Amino acid sequence: MPRYSEEIIEQVREANDIVDVIGSYVRLTKKGANYFGLCPFHGEKTPSFSVSPQKQIYYCFGCGAGGNVINFLMEYENLSFTEALKNLADRANIQLPEAGGGESSELTAMKKRLYDINKEAAYFYYEKLKSPEGGIGLSYFEENRKLSKATITHFGLGYSGKERGELYKRLKDKGYDDESLKASGLIIFDERQISDRFWNRVMFPIMDQNSRVVGFGGRVMGDGKPKYLNSPETPIFDKSSVLYGLNFAKKSRKKQLLLCEGYMDVIALHQAGFTNAVASLGTAFNEKHARLLKRYTDEVVLTQDSDEAGIKAKLRAFPILRDAGLNVRILDMKGYKDPDEFIKAKGAEAYEELIRKAENAFMYEAEVIRGQYDLSDPAMKTKFYEELAEKLCMFTESLERDNYIQAISHKYMINYEELKKLTEYRFLKSASRRREEPSYFEKQRASSGNEELKRRGGSAGAASAAAASGPSRGRIGAGDAASQGGKAAEASKTSSQRPRKIGPRTEGRSFNASLKSQRLLLSWCIASPEVLKAVRKNLSAEDFYEGVNRELYTEIVRESEQGGISASRLMELYPEDEEKRSLVGLILNFDTGYKNPDELNSFELSKAVTKAVQSIKGEQLDLEIEKSGDDLGALQRLFERKNELQRLRISFDEEEG
Ligand code: UTP
Ligand code: MN
Repeated sequence: MPRYSEEIIEQVREANDIVDVIGSYVRLTKKGANYFGLCPFHGEKTPSFSVSPQKQIYYCFGCGAGGNVINFLMEYENLSFTEALKNLADRANIQLPEAGGGESSELTAMKKRLYDINKEAAYFYYEKLKSPEGGIGLSYFEENRKLSKATITHFGLGYSGKERGELYKRLKDKGYDDESLKASGLIIFDERQISDRFWNRVMFPIMDQNSRVVGFGGRVMGDGKPKYLNSPETPIFDKSSVLYGLNFAKKSRKKQLLLCEGYMDVIALHQAGFTNAVASLGTAFNEKHARLLKRYTDEVVLTQDSDEAGIKAKLRAFPILRDAGLNVRILDMKGYKDPDEFIKAKGAEAYEELIRKAENAFMYEAEVIRGQYDLSDPAMKTKFYEELAEKLCMFTESLERDNYIQAISHKYMINYEELKKLTEYRFLKSASRRREEPSYFEKQRASSGNEELKRRGGSAGAASAAAASGPSRGRIGAGDAASQGGKAAEASKTSSQRPRKIGPRTEGRSFNASLKSQRLLLSWCIASPEVLKAVRKNLSAEDFYEGVNRELYTEIVRESEQGGISASRLMELYPEDEEKRSLVGLILNFDTGYKNPDELNSFELSKAVTKAVQSIKGEQLDLEIEKSGDDLGALQRLFERKNELQRLRISFDEEEG
């Protein structure tokens, strides 16, 4: 897939020590064999981000981010693989060969053309705005929207003209081919004609955080529909990872970033001096946006519109931002529709005052919840308290949780002890589930469970769903499973209950013994040729059925046959898939809490490996036993196999080899 040879990639990786590279972004402290620091990919107060100099990989035990030095740069700087590779090659003074053929060089070239096309289009619209024909657009910006010339220039605003083929002509003249123009989304090709997507609209170039134009929004100047037309997603425009205004806001050096709803809010805010405003465009705010913000700030003030949709948007963004480790406050626009209107009516100072007074997002949410209950009805009142207690569990640090319990009980005149009891009970319940597995896997399990279901044919429906994710594989009735599944699905719909460190998603003991054993063996196979040998004797690739395990195992076997296993090369197994890479990272780091195989004596080692093999095989037998139904003969054979498995002893004694 990469356009560069495996050798050159390896060379670049080897020339860039991961501790050096990451150390220039994150403060790392040595602890034992590894370095630790605060994870740059999620918010945390105690370091769970580890960097291994031996393995040349990083892994965060908190959020599951992981990879090698190239992956780190890709994630942190938001670069493509090739860009990150070039960057590291430069750093190590390695000359990369000129671009060769291959798929990905095709894509890289296309992306480059798309950046160029968008830049060219931005010039075109901007010039048009300044031309006589653009007068109508200019006066819209200046008179109707009260934008200064400086603001217009700063944001590169433009006008798209009344003709429907001018941009096309310009871009053709510049030598761009139809295929690229089509891919840019700026030109529409249909059977009858080729035409510009945007015409007679005022234009807002959308820039990514590195100030590259990646698309456009075009607004009608009157009341036409749609109000805004936007570029479609393209290889360079991923709506879920672009925030309008971030290229400026990231340099604003203010304490917090302001999150608002639209182009005009961002522009009006910047013009009024709030150069820290950004907006998610049209698409719902998501985790990627949050992580992007977290790179530049620790606090976000939500200032979406004050209508119902805006309130929903705030309540949706709040837990996402919180989970990314951001402080969140909510600004109340006192009845004005949006920041643009507020500032026009009340001025910048009044808005500054609103920022200062912006309420803590949790207290805001509590207030919204209160509005949903009739507190004169005792039953409703109880429900309200219960919902508050449930919400309070989002604070996983006990001191912080207690502060909120105090604040809430004070504000709503609830007995502190009562609310505390109610909350702590819930928290402990969810914590005991949480302890079963790293939080990241709550998310992982949902998908790997499904995969497994598919793989196994899944005809038993709910029953095998329970087997894949339930507490005691397969021992839950179909009814239970269905209700659990339903609950989980529901929970994932309401934003405030999204899967986070706690919550309904954790239901069931999903981090089962077989999965744990598979991971343990994989990590030991990498560390010890003897374990690998024993595992190859006793298990096959099919036995590593969870998530990425099978592919990883196959790769380990392959690499060992070709002379050596490299953890950092294994990290490259899924260059495009962050989640899978994270799983690989987890497995490669699985020795935490366990001793390494070379620290165990042969007795301990054989006990541990035997137990792991038994748990993997045993679980499969259990599943088969369950499926065997009324076939007593089959059942008997399965039980015999189980007994045999109990007697298995994998030995690492010298003599037996
Ligand atoms: P708004 O309608 O609040 O837009 O939609 P606005 O920025 O305040 O615009 P003005 O002040 O009426 O000119 C918020 C955002 O939702 C997206 C745009 O990104 C807009 O800025 N949107 C809205 C669309 O993509 N298409 C639409 O038709 C409407
Ligand atoms: Mn608006």
